Amino acid sequence: MVGSNRRLMRVFWVVGIVVAGVLVGLGVRLYREGADSLNFIASGSALVGGPFTLVDQDGKPRTDAEFRGSLMLVYFGYTYCPDVCPTELQTMSDALDALGDKAAKVQPIFITVDPERDTPPVVKDYVSHFHPRFIALTGTPSQVDAAEKAYRVYAAKAPSKSGGNDYLMDHTGLVYLMGRNGKYLTSFTPQTTPQQMAQAIAQRL
Ligand code: NI
Repeated sequence: MVGSNRRLMRVFWVVGIVVAGVLVGLGVRLYREGADSLNFIASGSALVGGPFTLVDQDGKPRTDAEFRGSLMLVYFGYTYCPDVCPTELQTMSDALDALGDKAAKVQPIFITVDPERDTPPVVKDYVSHFHPRFIALTGTPSQVDAAEKAYRVYAAKAPSKSGGNDYLMDHTGLVYLMGRNGKYLTSFTPQTTPQQMAQAIAQRL
């Protein structure tokens, strides 16, 4: 009896140690995951933006690195957009006008999500209707795709009845304000007024 009790005690000890080990392991894992999700929240803003290599309205290659030291006001859209895009480019232009001389420290950038139709001459003509300092960027489909991915922008051809070259694009309609270091500062929804946009930019100059 005494022998079997001892054996039983030993089994309890072994089981206890294994259970304790599993719990400690689980705890460490939960702690790590918790830390990861905290990091994710703290650096969530860093998820928007990143390097791009595109071509401007004069056919000149441009990268995001050229704009370090300026704030970038970035909008993704397309020149055939019937409503939201022109309104947004106008809001950006009006916000820059409202900033006066300070606007020199802000680079407005239009990036097409429709490189098939938006060639350099097409985007050049388009942005000429808005603020004179606009840089319009296009590129190969894969260059544009990479820029969209960096900014977490969604863009896709909408199904069209006629087919062919007469299509609309569904796309994210946010305006992104990026810092002098190229990092994300804030974004504006289409409901933002030029005054609100100017104010938010001025706070970060
Ligand atoms: Ni649009």
